[in-house]
Amino acid sequence: MNTLSASLPGGTWPLGDLTVTRFGYGAMQLAGPGVMGPPADRDGALTILREAADLGVTHIDTSGAYGPRVTNQLIREALHPYPESLHIVTKVGAVRDEQGGWPPARQPEDLRRAVHENLEDLGVEVLDVVNLRLGDAQGPRSGSLAEPFEALVELQQQGLIRHLGVSNATAEQVAEAQAIAPIVCVQNMYNLAYRQDDELIDDLSAKGVAYVPYFPLGGFTPLQSTALSAVATRLEATPMSVALAWLLRRSPNILLIPGTSSVVHLRENAAGTGVSLSDEDLAELDKIGR
Ligand SMILES: NC(=O)c1ccc[n+]([C@@H]2O[C@H](COP(=O)([O-])OP(=O)(O)OC[C@H]3O[C@@H](n4cnc5c(N)ncnc54)[C@H](OP(=O)(O)O)[C@@H]3O)[C@@H](O)[C@H]2O)c1
Repeated sequence: MNTLSASLPGGTWPLGDLTVTRFGYGAMQLAGPGVMGPPADRDGALTILREAADLGVTHIDTSGAYGPRVTNQLIREALHPYPESLHIVTKVGAVRDEQGGWPPARQPEDLRRAVHENLEDLGVEVLDVVNLRLGDAQGPRSGSLAEPFEALVELQQQGLIRHLGVSNATAEQVAEAQAIAPIVCVQNMYNLAYRQDDELIDDLSAKGVAYVPYFPLGGFTPLQSTALSAVATRLEATPMSVALAWLLRRSPNILLIPGTSSVVHLRENAAGTGVSLSDEDLAELDKIGR
């Protein structure tokens, strides 16, 4: 871990034998509109990825479904050969259709194809972490994950994947996965205003498993709240920094993967997330999602 990583807010967290900064970067929005096709500003996308690495970020979240394949190819172009400390977490289990939808693709052969595409596009021989994405665009759906998860365990045993995780999962599916093989992270939707997983977060924290909220800033419609703005004004911070600082304080196993296509926002978030929240600030922020 370099000295810059040590200065990022939140310190680090172990994903199995890999150490990552709790302040990471979510690469989804680097692809074109609707997460389809190439970005309008290709050089800008490459600059953001390099800037994230220069800031000391060692956790980049991606998926072969972004673009599709576009985001992974941008990551490779910007950062390959990767610094040893940098870890890329990807997802399999959904593809893209012509309308830009995200239909599930969780048959064993779909997952094998997706893992091989990720390896090729990222230019690596082993994927650091692969999340099995469950549910659909509306959120988690109940049902057994055994067949697709076991297919990924097989690919892990073949040496193509270092660690496994699940995404868009119910608490029951998380438990089912853990009964099959160790997982290092769960990536579900969660933020200041959307707190369905409070119990799951605490349970995973007790087990030393990372919880990685997707849409930490509210996603395509970033968070807007008078209470959040009031706390941010008082702290002379941006509302987005305060929302991220709240997540870091919420639980030690929470890892941040905020997305941005702006270098200014990336720098602002990396610096601002270190803002310290008083008990009074926390109490006010806590009320937003309740
Ligand atoms: N597992 C899953 O199913 C799943 C689903 C969705 C996402 N994800 C992952 O989660 C990551 C994060 O999600 P996300 O990027 O969609 O949403 P997000 O991080 O909640 O929010 C991103 C939005 O916030 C804006 N933003 C960021 N910093 C800002 C700042 N300082 N001031 C104002 N606006 C700011 C961005 O706009 P600008 O570009 O203008 O900064 C962008 O519109 C993704 O990159 C992806 O890796 C996973």
